[in-house]
Amino acid sequence: MTETKGRILTGHRPTGPRHIGHLMGTLETWARLQDSYECFFLVADLHVLTTDYEHPQRVRENTMGIVLDWLAAGIDPNRSTLVLQSAVPAHTQLNTLLGMLVTVSRLNRVPTFKEQVKELHLQPSLGLLGYPVLQAADILVYKADTVPVGEDQLPHIELTREVARRFNQLYGETFPEPDGLLSLTPRLPGTDNRTMHTSYGNAIFLRDTPEETTRKVMSMYTDPTRIHATDPGHVEDNPVFAYLDAFNPNKAEVEELKARYRAGTVGDVEVKRRLAVVLNEYLAPIRRRREKLAAHPEEVINLLQAGTARARDLAGDTLATVQEKMGLAANLIQAPFQANGPSPVVSEYPPDQLLYVP
Ligand code: TRP
Repeated sequence: MTETKGRILTGHRPTGPRHIGHLMGTLETWARLQDSYECFFLVADLHVLTTDYEHPQRVRENTMGIVLDWLAAGIDPNRSTLVLQSAVPAHTQLNTLLGMLVTVSRLNRVPTFKEQVKELHLQPSLGLLGYPVLQAADILVYKADTVPVGEDQLPHIELTREVARRFNQLYGETFPEPDGLLSLTPRLPGTDNRTMHTSYGNAIFLRDTPEETTRKVMSMYTDPTRIHATDPGHVEDNPVFAYLDAFNPNKAEVEELKARYRAGTVGDVEVKRRLAVVLNEYLAPIRRRREKLAAHPEEVINLLQAGTARARDLAGDTLATVQEKMGLAANLIQAPFQANGPSPVVSEYPPDQLLYVP
């Protein structure tokens, strides 16, 4: 890849194993984008703590699990950079600095924040309020110009653009104003036809065995108005057909099943059996890759480590620029001491002018 369309930074919070909704909605898109963009994929473990700080063991496990799922789904560590957020201090440092440019009232108006406060009935922490600032830091610390996300994340991209603009106005051109990139793939429903969610018990996970997958498919929600296999059925708003559309490469077969379902000449069980086969075939290569990687956890850690080290260099450079532009002397102190070079800042004060505690 010599010429790229730009630089991507995107990521997930490690909240649990990735499911087929993640696969269709985001992971396959990310895998494709690797062909034309320089990509940074972020495991946003700090963001998990904005709500779920009471289960440290879970965060660690989910972090390793999510990296396995990503790699299995086609994220290529030779072409893209995998980053562990908590292992790159510049994310948190830039978060602090950008926080100076964002008002509390602006953050109070962020829709995801308002929704979470309402839903979780919680007294929001400073960390939760600052969630989008940390996300802005994630993006801007790599000067990414493109951020593939779901629609719910667009308000965070908007805030990132505002922060970038404000910084550039105050301190000179530094950050690109990143664009959100939406995927056109329609969202897959859960097996019960609600939104697919890790904690709803309605998700099929990439790490599920073929047997688990078949069991989940066989108990899927279908057309509730259909009592007998000979009743005409509804294909619309029926997750079994949504999955067939997504996973069966044989479009003609799907159309035929739909026609027979509408006519009442095929039963739910037969359609589900076919779906289980198709889905297991689709997931087979992903599972093979996942099993191979899972057998060598140290290699997975090495890949994450290598990506994170590369990210740390780049992020460190951005942070140094930002610190300097904002008037901080951190760079003077951090520069390695040279015997004949400029003297350290402290020594510019004659000793007798320093205050000492008596
Ligand atoms: N907030 C994102 C989500 O919940 C995760 C995330 C954290 C992210 N930092 C990011 C996404 C930076 C894109 C860019 O899905």
